[in-house]
Amino acid sequence: MKPKNIREALRGELTDEELAQLRAFDIVGDVAIIKIPERLLPKKHAIGQALLQVHTNLRTVLNQVGPVGGEFRTRELEVIAGELSTEATHSESGCTFKTDLAQAYFSPRLAHERLRIAKLVRPGEIVTNLFAGVGCYSIIIAKHSRASTVYSIDKNPAAFRFMVENIRANRVGDRVVPILGDARDIIEGQLAGRANRVLMPLPELAREFFDAALLALKLEGGTIHFYDLGQVPDLFSPSLEFVRRAASEKNVKLLGSRAIRSYAPRRHHVVLDLLISKK
Ligand SMILES: C[S@@+](CC[C@H](N)C(=O)[O-])C[C@H]1O[C@@H](n2cnc3c(N)ncnc32)[C@H](O)[C@@H]1O
Repeated sequence: MKPKNIREALRGELTDEELAQLRAFDIVGDVAIIKIPERLLPKKHAIGQALLQVHTNLRTVLNQVGPVGGEFRTRELEVIAGELSTEATHSESGCTFKTDLAQAYFSPRLAHERLRIAKLVRPGEIVTNLFAGVGCYSIIIAKHSRASTVYSIDKNPAAFRFMVENIRANRVGDRVVPILGDARDIIEGQLAGRANRVLMPLPELAREFFDAALLALKLEGGTIHFYDLGQVPDLFSPSLEFVRRAASEKNVKLLGSRAIRSYAPRRHHVVLDLLISKK
């Protein structure tokens, strides 16, 4: 008989104390990603098999061995149960995204934020996405708004390949333009002054690329979604002070701010929605 939950599936394999150490896991399509604490690593295959037994729609269980890192924001993964593959196809907001979880960044936890941004886009807007990954924000914007063009930049060749495939699969090739390269080079070389709206969904690089985001906007200005790292208790003021200093020759109006998710105790990814205009 199918076990009701992971505790039941692992009864006899793990003690209650060990079971309490198991953390939440993410599901991307039919693949689960779990971070198994060091002490439980000798039991990783039993944990993987238990997840397959409980969630019968899963094909593969991956253990995340290291943190997300490096210039492409990837992570080391190992298959602990099921098919030997790190590919997955995820459905979100009426779109599908194919990816290789070991080769390109993907998080199902950003679904709410991606749709929130898409709903802000007005008809006819030109959007530039500096850090597009496999195309999630760009494609969801194209599907859920009447944006005229979404320039979708990423420098990871693997993410770019999946982005091209995802644009085709979601039939938004008439409006989403995939571009392989460094966001700064691409903006300086071909996209300066084009966008009504700029997205910078990579908190670790947002400050370094803020000048490129300003350059990407139309001369009269527009909106920048500035993703940054915030710390409790003052989640947003340091980010706002930074952008006001960095854009001192412009008017900067804060349209909104939100904490997106916690990535360490008291530390959060945050976003500021900024309206930039000429002084
Ligand atoms: C956090 S991921 C973006 C995730 C994506 N927005 C999503 O919703 O799935 C950041 C991406 O930025 C890309 N990246 C890093 N540095 C870059 C740069 N200088 N220019 C363009 N892309 C860059 C990485 O390859 C990675 O795919």
